[in-house]
Amino acid sequence: MSNSISPPEPSAPPAVLIVDDEPNTLTLLKQLFGREIPVRTASTGPEALRVLEAVEVGVIVADQRMPDMSGTELLGQVMQRHPDVVRIMLTAFADIDTLTEAINTGKVFQYVAKPWDNRDLAMTVRSAMETYNLRRKNAQLLEQNTRLVEELRQANRELERENITLKRAVTGSYQLDNIIGVSPAMKKTLGVIEKAIESDATVLIHGETGTGKEVVARAVHYNSSRRDRKFVAQNCGSLPEALLETELFGHAKGAFTSADKDRRGLFEEADGGTMFLDEIGDMPMTMQVKLLRVLEEGEVRRIGSNEPVRVDVRILSATHKNLREEVEAGRFRRDLYYRLDVLRVHLPPLRERDGDVMLLAKHFLDKYTARSRKPLSGLTPAAIQALTDHSFPGNVRELENEIERAVALANPGDTVDVDLLSAEVVGDRKLAAADNGNGSLRGRLREVERRLITQELIKNDGNRTHSAAKLGISVRALQKKINLLEIKA
Ligand SMILES: Nc1ncnc2c1ncn2[C@@H]1O[C@H](COP(=O)(O)OP(=O)(O)OP(=O)(O)O)[C@@H](O)[C@H]1O
Ligand SMILES: [Mg+2]
Repeated sequence: MSNSISPPEPSAPPAVLIVDDEPNTLTLLKQLFGREIPVRTASTGPEALRVLEAVEVGVIVADQRMPDMSGTELLGQVMQRHPDVVRIMLTAFADIDTLTEAINTGKVFQYVAKPWDNRDLAMTVRSAMETYNLRRKNAQLLEQNTRLVEELRQANRELERENITLKRAVTGSYQLDNIIGVSPAMKKTLGVIEKAIESDATVLIHGETGTGKEVVARAVHYNSSRRDRKFVAQNCGSLPEALLETELFGHAKGAFTSADKDRRGLFEEADGGTMFLDEIGDMPMTMQVKLLRVLEEGEVRRIGSNEPVRVDVRILSATHKNLREEVEAGRFRRDLYYRLDVLRVHLPPLRERDGDVMLLAKHFLDKYTARSRKPLSGLTPAAIQALTDHSFPGNVRELENEIERAVALANPGDTVDVDLLSAEVVGDRKLAAADNGNGSLRGRLREVERRLITQELIKNDGNRTHSAAKLGISVRALQKKINLLEIKA
């Protein structure tokens, strides 16, 4: 018996599919559901599978005994291909073993014993159709839910992005809280740092020792669009050339005796993120060539390998040297210098940051009192004066060390006075005090000279050769001054 297969109609209610090789059964059942539920029929298993592909079927009722394919076999296939369809088997008492197996393996949802009672069968099919409709609805809701959750996530991400932009627009600043400075010199620098954060350009950070070059490099990375990827730092002056090369570029297995396996270098590690090359001015010439290639081609080669590896790395570099002078002196490649010095952040020495010493001193005092859990009541006016008068050749790091030591030496409740400050800081202070502004120039200079020489001798444990070298005079000249100025050494 053939069945007319119509294309799927999405709006039509799902059909019940009746499969039996007995034409009479088919006719009978068709009449039973006639108007209430659309009925499809098939006389073999393969035909039934074709109907299932063509129209939406909610319930399938199959006879167990059919020539081509048994009912359980057919329902087993339906379970695989159309799991939502509710499967019912028509079965005679003799098939009870097959039936039990089919129910246990989930192929059959329900069974109707032959000969069936029409009212029972109609009810079974009706409730099976309800089950099918509920399953469909559930699946649709789940799908809708998943879509809504995804939309919500997307909206959240957009909101977050908008928030960041808004925050920047309102405050006009980034999270640069750990860079302290209100002096005009530092404000100018902070402006450039913000530019460096917004762009993805290569940045050269220049400044004397201890001015905060690494602090700036981290701030640029952690505020930039690369902040979720790695920040990798490498000092280019602290390693022998061969080691620096393996660190940066990695190596292939067998590249040298100890290379027992492949190793990624720091450039690959930093992929997608930022590479901070500290003390770039100390990078050996041959390494400079290799770095230039990374910048120009955006790829690295592991030592001992010819395979280029693409990397997307932003380079920040730092130096206390004047790179332009290094270029003129032939110690630094000009082409590399131009590649590195796209955006320049200059960190002024602390002595040029008017007003910042006090602010930084307070910041470090808070930091170290909190860390040592030792409450202190600030600095005495004399200590403040000594700190502001000092020239801080070691810049912010020197100031930080100075305060850390003072906190370590202080007793709980103390106000930090000059006695807790180092000879370097107080020495300058004594020097300034020595020049009381009275008397002749010759007399005042004499006093300052006496203090300087005394200080140098103390620093060098009375060693005249070292002291003379530090002061840039001969030992004989120093001896003469010691006698002349009546220094007790
Ligand atoms: N503007 C600043 N605000 C707060 N702390 C700072 C600031 N600048 C530097 N520091 C602190 O001073 C110390 C030295 O800073 P950093 O290591 O960044 O200096 P550097 O320029 O890299 O020094 P070097 O040339 O010796 O490597 C660090 O402990 C850092 O936290
Ligand atoms: Mg540094």
